[in-house]
This record gives sequence, C-alpha cells and structure tokens, in this order.
Amino acid sequence: MMRTRIAGIGHYLPEKIVTNADLEKIMDTTDAWIQERTGIRERRWVEKGDGNSTSSMGVKAARMAIENAGLQVSDIDYLIFATLSPDYFFPGSGVLAQRELGLGTIGALDIRNQCSGFIYGLCIADAFIKVGSYKNILLIGSELHSGALEKNTRGRGVSVIFGDGAGAVVLSATNEDRGIIKTCMHAEGEHAEQLAIIGPATHHWVDEYIAENNMDNPEWRAYMNGNFVFKHAIQRMGEAINEVLDGSGYTPADLNLLVPHQANLRISQMVQRQFGLGDDQVYNNIMSYGNTTAGSIPIALSEAYQKGKVQEGDLVCLTAFGSGFTWGAALVKW
Ligand code: ACO
Repeated sequence: MMRTRIAGIGHYLPEKIVTNADLEKIMDTTDAWIQERTGIRERRWVEKGDGNSTSSMGVKAARMAIENAGLQVSDIDYLIFATLSPDYFFPGSGVLAQRELGLGTIGALDIRNQCSGFIYGLCIADAFIKVGSYKNILLIGSELHSGALEKNTRGRGVSVIFGDGAGAVVLSATNEDRGIIKTCMHAEGEHAEQLAIIGPATHHWVDEYIAENNMDNPEWRAYMNGNFVFKHAIQRMGEAINEVLDGSGYTPADLNLLVPHQANLRISQMVQRQFGLGDDQVYNNIMSYGNTTAGSIPIALSEAYQKGKVQEGDLVCLTAFGSGFTWGAALVKW
C-alpha cells in the first residue's frame, strides 16, 4: 500500500520582531509575567503595508517546501490550507494561495480547526494519498493574528501570546517503508466558546449588529479561558501521543523528536515530563515566535529540520490542541 511521506518543508516569518518590552509600552504587562507564564520572549507581527497576508505568507512557506521537496509547483495536485485567520470571511485562503502559486484548477480545501488545523490537514492528506487520489499534496498552515489582536490592557491575556507566520509541507506518495505511521483527530464541541471569537458571524443578525454600531463589543475579539484551556491541552495532547504510539511498536523512548503545537512553553514542558522525554527529544520555538496556531507545527518542524534535528529514519511525533476544542497527533518515520 502507498504511504505518505513529508517530502518537503518550509516556513516564513514576517521580519518585524515585537519583544515583550515593546508590549510593555502599549499595555499593562511585563516581560517577567509573559516569560514566566508562557516562555515567550518575542513574536513576529506583520507591519501594515508590508504586503503580508495570511495567504501570501502561506505561499512563501509553500514555495520553500516545494523547492525543498525537489519538485515544481506544477507537480502539486491538491492543496490544503489551514488557518483561523483567513484573508476573507469567504472564500477561504486556499483558493487565494492556489491563485498566487499558479496551481491551475487543482482542488483547494480550507481547514478551520485552529491550532489543530495542521494535524487535521495531515490526516486528510494521508488518507487521500493512501487511496491513490493524489500524489503530491501541499499542506499550508498560516496565521495573521496581529491584525485582530486587542493590543491594550483589556486584551493582554490573549494578545501577548499570539504571533504571525506560516509553515508548509509537501506530502508525497511513496512505496518506501517510511512516512506517516499513524494519525488521530479529536474534537469536543462542548467547549467551543472557551477559546473563540464569537462575532461578527451569522449567529447575530448582521444588520442589527451594524445598526447597534457596537464595534467595541468584546465578542469581536478572541476570548480565552486560559486556565481551562491549559489543563485540557496537557491532558489531550498526552492522550493523542499515546494513541498514535499505541500499536505502532514504538514507545516514547523511541521518539527522536516530539514537536508539540507551540501554545505555551509550560504546556510543552509538562507534556515532555509526562512522557519522560529529554530536552533533545522535544523541539520548542515559542520563545521567539509566540503561538502561530495552524502555522506553529510546520514552522517548528521546518526550523528543526534546518538545524539538522530531524534526520532520515528518525521517529517524529507531532501533536496539537486548540480551539474547538480540537486535538490530534501524527507519528512519522522521516
Ligand atoms: N500581563 C500581565 N498580567 C496579565 C496579563 C498580561 N499579559 N494577562 C493577564 N494578566 C493578569 C490577569 O488579569 C490576572 O490578574 P488578577 O489576578 O488581578 O485577576 C492575572 O494576570 C492572572 O491571570 P490568569 O489568566 O489567571 O493567569 P494564568 O497563570 O492562568 O496565565 C495564560 C494565563 C498564560 C493565558 C495561561 O492560562 C495559559 O497559558 N493558558 C493556556 C492557554 C494557551 O496556551 N493558549 C494558547 C492558545 S490555545 C492553544 O493554542 C492551545
């Protein structure tokens, strides 16, 4: 049976660095608070007018991934785009990336699974490749959070955490004994509003909403029940890692690298402890980029790959948890 391997990987981060000290100037926060709670020292935010959009950052990461795979753009036969911060309300960013890349009329699927979007995309691409539908699927995870963050003291519980950036992989069919071993996806809509932007959307009558001119409504901004999310993230990521290891013949000790979604350094560290992994077995870069949601796993994986921390034959585990709640994992033989 055909298997799916990660044939190419790339990432893109906007140039503008925003340090915790920069945030201290615009809201009541401190570098110490942010580092102690989240591990974040700085993040990248696009600058107005720098030409970056969710889709264009995704395209930059995609070009790097396609080149890294040794392929041409014309070899890509399907596109999956994961983001919670699309360029438009509709259509999704998938068709915009397809257009910018010149991908003709290949299918473009948009995924709305927030921090788990990349893992969900990986699962779907793997299924398509295994049944022989496609040979080279481009999977992009990209976020432009900074345009919607509330950059003041009211929004500080959320805005200090999130960063902009994109990552991408090319997933190719292979006969070799390598690639994606097992994946899992889960969701629990029970907690949908614990990490969410509720409005503007169709649950309101839009004309009433506009008439009220309620632009300062906190519903327009991301709400996060931080402690609640934190506890669920640790539990669910742990379960997902166990699920993909189960029956694979591997144990946590066999993992060469765990790349957890970069939600919060303390979450990653607790998952690391849960599985008794050494520092060299876990890759984190939230310190430099914040939480880039659907972009976080491919950005971290691409950076780890560039640093030589992922070698052919390595056993790599990816796991994510986020808004929805949604979560999942993938076990990959590189
Ligand atoms: N700077 C200074 N003080 C702040 C800030 C800030 N940026 N944000 C909140 N505070 C204050 C609060 O107002 C509160 O003050 P009070 O005690 O006077 O009411 C105090 O700090 C403590 O706030 P908590 O929210 O209880 O702080 P907590 O220790 O829970 O840390 C955090 C908050 C970092 C968000 C944490 O809950 C967390 O990491 N949760 C996980 C959620 C997560 O990682 N989300 C990322 C996105 S979701 C995902 O990707 C999984």
